[in-house]
Amino acid sequence: MAAIFRPIPWAFRGSLCLPLSARRFSKTVDENRSLAGKVAVITGSTRGIGFAIARRLAQDGAHVVISSRKQENVDEAVTILKEEGLSVTGTMCHVGKAEDRQHLVTTALKHSGGIDFLVCVAGVNPLVGSTLGASEQIWDKILDVNVKSPALLLSKVLPYMENRRGGSVVLVSSGVAYVPVPKLGVYNTSKTALLGLCKSLAMELAPKGIRVNCLVPGIIKTDFSLREKTMPNMLPDMNKIFGVQRLGEPEECAGLVSFLCSSDASYITGENIMVAGFSSKL
Ligand SMILES: NC(=O)c1ccc[n+]([C@@H]2O[C@H](COP(=O)([O-])OP(=O)(O)OC[C@H]3O[C@@H](n4cnc5c(N)ncnc54)[C@H](OP(=O)(O)O)[C@@H]3O)[C@@H](O)[C@H]2O)c1
Repeated sequence: MAAIFRPIPWAFRGSLCLPLSARRFSKTVDENRSLAGKVAVITGSTRGIGFAIARRLAQDGAHVVISSRKQENVDEAVTILKEEGLSVTGTMCHVGKAEDRQHLVTTALKHSGGIDFLVCVAGVNPLVGSTLGASEQIWDKILDVNVKSPALLLSKVLPYMENRRGGSVVLVSSGVAYVPVPKLGVYNTSKTALLGLCKSLAMELAPKGIRVNCLVPGIIKTDFSLREKTMPNMLPDMNKIFGVQRLGEPEECAGLVSFLCSSDASYITGENIMVAGFSSKL
């Protein structure tokens, strides 16, 4: 219990006292903006929710390292954001591969000298079907990418966040963690596991001044949800129950992540926060 009453590490009392060791930042942002001087690594950030988060963190002043499995997607995303005057670099990283995770960290360090934020967006769902009918390979793939990879990547990033004397990590779960969607049992389970991972990591890393929180999106309009027919089909039912009027936009997830990375969220850790139009949980 005593750990709860430890003094807040200095790096979390305000952004003014944080070291400015990153070399290149967005030219178009005001240096006083909340994330100025910070470096963010984002997985699964070439489209959808991850891309919206990358754009927002860069607009708010961070240098952002974009990544996903396909180099051409990385190149395209980097080009778009650079044309907007934002400070971004990118590299290919399949989060399920150890060598790719290491390469992502190395790339981020080469460009910017340190890492302040890690946002783990990449997630997969290769199965629509019964939970007990899922093969061991399906279980391994979903758990490797969705649950294990954020922890394994963070273990590589951790020394550099410790060097900065603090940091912020954001995991990305899903509303299906609370209300399972039929035929997505393995995916549902992986997203529920992330809620627990967030709590455990937050507790372990609090003494180091590193905060860990979790974005929990509802149904957001992206390739992922539109490909997954079950999700949009749920909307009429959800409308009846919760009064939700529409699908969410990726940009509506991005502001929360920027806030969680900023010093405005300095006393917030271990939280699983829904962005879903409405949430039935207390
Ligand atoms: N959309 C929703 O309604 C919704 C709701 C709740 C939660 N989520 C969660 O939000 C996250 C993003 O979903 P989204 O809707 O934005 O998906 P999306 O539009 O399909 O984008 C997925 C992104 O992740 C990359 N990616 C996929 N597998 C990867 C891997 N193994 N390693 C690294 N990058 C990978 C993709 O690029 P490449 O193809 O180049 O790899 C792409 O940049 C996922 O974790 C998903 O579970 C989504």
